[in-house]
Amino acid sequence: MRILVLNEQDIINVFTMQDAIQADKDALEIYSKGGSVTPLRTNIAVPKEEGQSLAMPGYAAEANALGVKIVSVYPNNIKKGLTSVPATMVLQNEDTGEVNAILDGTFLTRIRTGAVSGAATDLLAKKDSKIFALFGTGGQAETQLEAVLTVRGIEEVRVFDLSKERAQDFADKMAEKFNGKFKAKYVVAKSSDDAIVDADIITSVTTTKTPVFNGKLVKKGAHINGVGSFTPFMHEIDEYILLNADKVYVDTRNGVLNESGDFIIPISEGKCTEDIITGELGELILGKTIGRESDEEITFFKTVGSGVLDVVTARRIYEKAVEKKAGQIIEF
Ligand SMILES: NC(=O)c1ccc[n+]([C@@H]2O[C@H](COP(=O)([O-])OP(=O)(O)OC[C@H]3O[C@@H](n4cnc5c(N)ncnc54)[C@H](O)[C@@H]3O)[C@@H](O)[C@H]2O)c1
Repeated sequence: MRILVLNEQDIINVFTMQDAIQADKDALEIYSKGGSVTPLRTNIAVPKEEGQSLAMPGYAAEANALGVKIVSVYPNNIKKGLTSVPATMVLQNEDTGEVNAILDGTFLTRIRTGAVSGAATDLLAKKDSKIFALFGTGGQAETQLEAVLTVRGIEEVRVFDLSKERAQDFADKMAEKFNGKFKAKYVVAKSSDDAIVDADIITSVTTTKTPVFNGKLVKKGAHINGVGSFTPFMHEIDEYILLNADKVYVDTRNGVLNESGDFIIPISEGKCTEDIITGELGELILGKTIGRESDEEITFFKTVGSGVLDVVTARRIYEKAVEKKAGQIIEF
């Protein structure tokens, strides 16, 4: 058996954000037409370390993508100088069941999560969008930024974080990293209001439990990506947006309605029903639901993530790596 091992740099060398956006579009299309299998993740508690080990299996036959992402949540790792959420993707050969690749799952999560916002932005944001507001400058922020820069000609990026220092550091690093590749200039917003006034695209990727901006200040025609809220108690996007956006899209209805407080809280308070969702992004790609109809409409996309994004993106990375002879091969 031969197993290809791909670390973050190997992936960066062979796989672009544009590739990742296409992989996510394909993954969500396959999901929305019922072509994937993504069983509920299993969760094993490891009490002695207050840890949890999660296994997220997935299969998308149309993409020849079979595998499992192993993600652990070990809060005490920080004291050991290790990441608290280590992740590894194990990819299998669908014809034999053998493991054929192991990928850095932390980077895979970052790239596929940025790319899903990139896919939504590409399909829903106004073509002439110029100002991008990014809330949250943590581990997921860079790929969120790169994805939006990849699909629209952004001229100004406004970043906002509760930690001004982290926001400044992020803005400086991104200005250096993307200098020459994208034309945007980077500004640290003084307040949440300052960040969104006139913004054409807004992405929020924070760990907040309460809304990060005032939805009433969002301008007509804006597109919003909500990425952070993944538990019923996390309410990241002002419910004004959910209730007043012209169109509301999700990565998966099942995931968002069961996991995200952005939807669960307003629905449980009787302010709206599940029917507030216009459609899944995959349904939009399949032409089963309507997209943006004018430059005046506000569109909102919410993602909580899905195993189908991991397995399809991992398979595409594997295919590119084989073609370009990247990574290390282990034989046993
Ligand atoms: N949708 C998905 O598929 C997906 C995938 C991965 C991670 N996530 C979620 O995305 C979120 C961010 O992940 P991360 O790894 O970047 O986290 P992180 O902890 O590295 O960074 C979070 C950042 O958000 C900032 N923040 C918190 N509250 C804020 C507020 N009110 N306004 C502005 N900034 C605020 C923090 O200061 C911090 O800099 C997490 O909730 C994570 O679970 C979602």
